[in-house]
Amino acid sequence: MSATDPLARGATPMSSPALDELYHCNSKHTAARLAFVGARQRRRRERTIAALYDAAKNRFKSYASAPQIALPRTRVTLATTLDAALDRRRSRRDLGTPAPSADELGTLLARAYGTCGERAGVLARPVPSGGGLYPLEIYVLQFPEGGLDEGVYHYHPGDHALERLRSSCDRARAADASMYPEIVARASLVLVVVADMPRTRVKYGERAYRLALLEAGHVSQNLYLVCAALGLGIVALDGFYDDRIHAVLDLDGVNEIALVVFAVGRA
Ligand SMILES: Cc1cc2nc3c(=O)[nH]c(=O)nc-3n(C[C@H](O)[C@H](O)[C@H](O)COP(=O)(O)O)c2cc1C
Repeated sequence: MSATDPLARGATPMSSPALDELYHCNSKHTAARLAFVGARQRRRRERTIAALYDAAKNRFKSYASAPQIALPRTRVTLATTLDAALDRRRSRRDLGTPAPSADELGTLLARAYGTCGERAGVLARPVPSGGGLYPLEIYVLQFPEGGLDEGVYHYHPGDHALERLRSSCDRARAADASMYPEIVARASLVLVVVADMPRTRVKYGERAYRLALLEAGHVSQNLYLVCAALGLGIVALDGFYDDRIHAVLDLDGVNEIALVVFAVGRA
């Protein structure tokens, strides 16, 4: 650095905007942007959106060739008040045994992101979703000696069933995909919330990413509250190596992206 170098004289280097700033600005709704859309274009867009919604409702991602394991239809009654569950909710890293039973896991998945009755012919869900498109998927990594047979599973909310993608689930590989191997070592199972981005991007464009993250937040809070009510321990883990998790789940990591990981065990 020479004496004439502006940095040597204490000038602040010109930094480019952070990616999150660029993203946030590029994905803003603005009245000016809408003003450029003509009435005819807007009507066409509304028709497309209605058709998309029609095509998406009551449809669920399915691994057609994977064996399907039905989860118990009878849910464990959450005999706690919302007040108590909110008070009791904590991130638990000291996870213990016994592992969640199939009944408990079924209840957890159903109440977090399953279906809950029907409204006007559309299966209702326990979380709100931008445009009702429900772009999230939940995967379960069930380690040996759990409430289910060991394996890697995909949750099918419509059938309330797990699709068994692999019959083994290597704990060492899952731990290696986490920045918290000591937490994964004690977990009975791991949940991964994944977003299928094209499903929501087709309507929301750049803004879709915001909506997917918000929806993952809704699911996350449901998971925490239901765990609190069931006496299960859970911790959200943002500390995961994205592409290692994508490899475990055999996802491309571009269209289908892991948003958040949870370690679950007995509280
Ligand atoms: C999106 C999200 C990501 C998180 N990631 C981690 C993580 O990687 N490691 C961890 O130990 N805790 C993680 N947590 C848990 C927070 O540390 C915890 O919620 C916070 O300390 C408050 O504690 P409480 O949940 O017990 O009230 C995460 C929480 C959220 C909501």
